[in-house]
Amino acid sequence: MIPNPPTPFPTREGGGNTEAYVLSDTTRAAIVALKGKYPKVQSAILDALRLAQDEIGYVPAEASAEVAALLGVSPHHVHSLATFYTMFFTQPVGTAIVEVCDNLSCALWGSRRIIARLEEALGIAVGETTPDGSITLLRTIECLAACGGAPALRVNTTYYEKMTEEKVVALVKELRPGKR
Ligand code: FES
Repeated sequence: MIPNPPTPFPTREGGGNTEAYVLSDTTRAAIVALKGKYPKVQSAILDALRLAQDEIGYVPAEASAEVAALLGVSPHHVHSLATFYTMFFTQPVGTAIVEVCDNLSCALWGSRRIIARLEEALGIAVGETTPDGSITLLRTIECLAACGGAPALRVNTTYYEKMTEEKVVALVKELRPGKR
């Protein structure tokens, strides 16, 4: 028996309810292509969410729903993964994402002072983004595996160790040239 051809998905060019789409046709096609990459389509969800976040910068509920529709899986399951994994953001974030370790070694070496100084220098609290959208002081986290460099923080994928309040001020200047 000849299997049915894959059902084409609607594209912006192809008409249909284009207003509902938050992902580009390129990303939508890449997500559909993931279905052939894994034995079980559920295994493609994280890759698909990554593609969505790469395009939009975060994963709004509409993008989660679109991923679910394209993969033919439960929207609730996709949403639960998008909200469970800390690598996905469900709200807009800045281009620089600052995460500060607040676990034992870093706490003993003054991480609370580092966090307070960051909040003061950026004018935001943990969990917030600067009004210009450039920096998100995302969260305190449980060990960056850089305990020998405590107190430590991370900006996107770059580590900053043995932080002091002076280094925090220099870092903020580096992240926001001309602003402070
Ligand atoms: S306790 Fe801070 S990096 Fe490990």
